[in-house]
Amino acid sequence: MSIRETSRVRPSLFGAAGWPYPDEHGRYGPYGGRYVPEALYPALVELEEAFSEAVEDPAFRQELQALLETYAGRPTPIYRTQRLSSSGAQLWLKREDLLHTGAHKINNALGQGLLAKRMGKKRLVAETGAGQHGVATATVAALLGMECVVYMGSVDMRRQEPNVRRMRLLGAEVRPVETGSATLKEAVSEAIRDWLSNLGSTHYLLGSALGPHPYPWIVREFQAVIGREARAQFLQRVGALPTAVVACVGGGSNAIGLFHAFLSDAVELVGVEAGGRGVKTGKHAARFSDPERGRVGVLHGCYSYVLQDQDGQIMNTHSVSAGLDYPAVGPEHAYLREIGRAQYTYVTDEEAIAALKELARLEGIICALESAHAVAAALRLAASMGRDEHVLVGLSGRGDKDLETLSAAAEGQ
Ligand SMILES: Cc1ncc(COP(=O)(O)O)c(C=O)c1O
Repeated sequence: MSIRETSRVRPSLFGAAGWPYPDEHGRYGPYGGRYVPEALYPALVELEEAFSEAVEDPAFRQELQALLETYAGRPTPIYRTQRLSSSGAQLWLKREDLLHTGAHKINNALGQGLLAKRMGKKRLVAETGAGQHGVATATVAALLGMECVVYMGSVDMRRQEPNVRRMRLLGAEVRPVETGSATLKEAVSEAIRDWLSNLGSTHYLLGSALGPHPYPWIVREFQAVIGREARAQFLQRVGALPTAVVACVGGGSNAIGLFHAFLSDAVELVGVEAGGRGVKTGKHAARFSDPERGRVGVLHGCYSYVLQDQDGQIMNTHSVSAGLDYPAVGPEHAYLREIGRAQYTYVTDEEAIAALKELARLEGIICALESAHAVAAALRLAASMGRDEHVLVGLSGRGDKDLETLSAAAEGQ
């Protein structure tokens, strides 16, 4: 599909130039939008205006670029696996796990942190599931001298305990959320509530490409550095583009960040959702792959695919990876799927754990459980391709945070 030129194209930081989404209503086709209480509306408009201005300000771009390079550790390399895929296509990993704080989340946290400072905010609030976004936000708050509160479901606090300690060491307050399934969905709700009560002083540093407009756009722009780098690195190393690009999809930020640079190329884009205990069991977070429960609806201010029951009540999700354990998916993914530009598949808990172990033993890389979903799907895809083809995988984060979960899974808990 080629990118349509329109007169209403928004300014771009790292995203695909000329891509006309979100449109003037903050929509990607029918998806996205801004379904929020009236009191929040002016804050979202203020944020949209501030971001549009920042993107066009060379000083902002330079400050961000310098921090991405000297503080976060960009560019991250692409690495061709040596032993992991011995037949089928060659596998390449975009090593976001090597970044400071251990995941792609720092790209967006640095960007939004600088934006918040520019807007005169003194306090950051964030939600976190796997803890990686919470750690990234706490890190940026320390760097910029801002107060930081992170909301985290109590179930996630237990399974990602090392990250809770990291956030506290960095000076952030971690507030447990006990309601509902006590995971990411409830943490997002609490963070929005906090923001609503403290609009003057506080920026809500949302961690994925979801929520009300302008968040899916802002997060995509800050994460699109991943694909922009990877595409140039690939051309330099291989002299051609990969056949397919694969990334895991929680809310969808690392995937949209990796996909964006390839939107107008003849490259397959594959997003991987959490299949949990299997799509038929209902215990998963596969919004696209379960037509019975994954239907269009609104969650956290955004119209997209949401796991819901027959009455439209939001369902509790399950995934071994806290970062993929969320009932809605970012609106741009819903649109890319609808127009056939990206495909979405799922990987179960068991398959993700197996892929994590294989990557560790054959390559010496311990990736995050979230990223292991992408690795598993890429291995499946590569097996059906020729040796002269290449598959690029977004390795979104490292796995130190998951050691406890892996031990528990090994003991059958
Ligand atoms: C390492 C890692 N990868 C992926 C994700 C999923 O988020 P997203 O879909 O926004 O990239 C998370 C979320 O916490 C994460 O920590």
